[in-house]
Amino acid sequence: MPARNAREVVLSLGGSVFLTGEQDVEYLRALSAMLREVAESQPLAVVVGGGRTAREYIRLGRALGLAERELDELGIDVTRLHARLLAGLLAPACPPAPLLTVREAAEEAARWPLLVLGGTEPGHSTDAVAAQLAERLHAERLVNATRAGGIFDRDPAKDPEAKRLRSLPFEQFRSLVEAGTDGRAGQEAIFDRVGVERLAHARIPLAVVDGRDLGELKNALLGRVFQGSLVIPPSDA
Ligand code: UTP
Repeated sequence: MPARNAREVVLSLGGSVFLTGEQDVEYLRALSAMLREVAESQPLAVVVGGGRTAREYIRLGRALGLAERELDELGIDVTRLHARLLAGLLAPACPPAPLLTVREAAEEAARWPLLVLGGTEPGHSTDAVAAQLAERLHAERLVNATRAGGIFDRDPAKDPEAKRLRSLPFEQFRSLVEAGTDGRAGQEAIFDRVGVERLAHARIPLAVVDGRDLGELKNALLGRVFQGSLVIPPSDA
């Protein structure tokens, strides 16, 4: 068990990292072994995203005329499906089923070295859930495991000249997020707008790392030097 006074680290594990369609069994086995090892010294809360599967259902629901709120609920169900798979792999170090709310997760945190949850309610993505939980737990840091492996000065999907920012002040991060999203269901973005405001308020550092590189993900979780991007919270910027 981690030391009783150790502050939690929250991991937002993007759904597009969780399942890629390539070597998922090997990845999920190695990921869960690494998370269990880290959780021996550092309590962890993992929030799992819905990725491609969520976007597929949201696309289908939108084409069929479902309301935005119903599309969000579809996305939430997929994130919880992923969270259930991870909880199954991490048990008995975490509760056997994913937790459903930030409040429930915060209440359970003292009892388990690991917690797993998916989405909670409509209106935001799992990044926001992770930020809300980090704020609630006064977490040491939030780690965002993405495919892109960092934050870039321009959209790397559109511009091959885009450069990864090793560290950036919070205001620059906020501008990049605002330039890239409008808040609709199923959008791919650097981070969630709701989550940005929670992090700003709580002054929690955000590390963005390639979630498929387990060595670097472990470094980021443990607060070591890592390959990726570090967002410096407002008070330290
Ligand atoms: P994700 O958190 O997976 O969104 O939630 P994402 O931005 O596509 O992230 P990746 O690709 O997994 O990294 C999928 C969708 O589920 C709904 C939203 O519509 C979101 O876009 N959702 C999720 C909610 O409404 N509330 C939640 O708490 C979580």
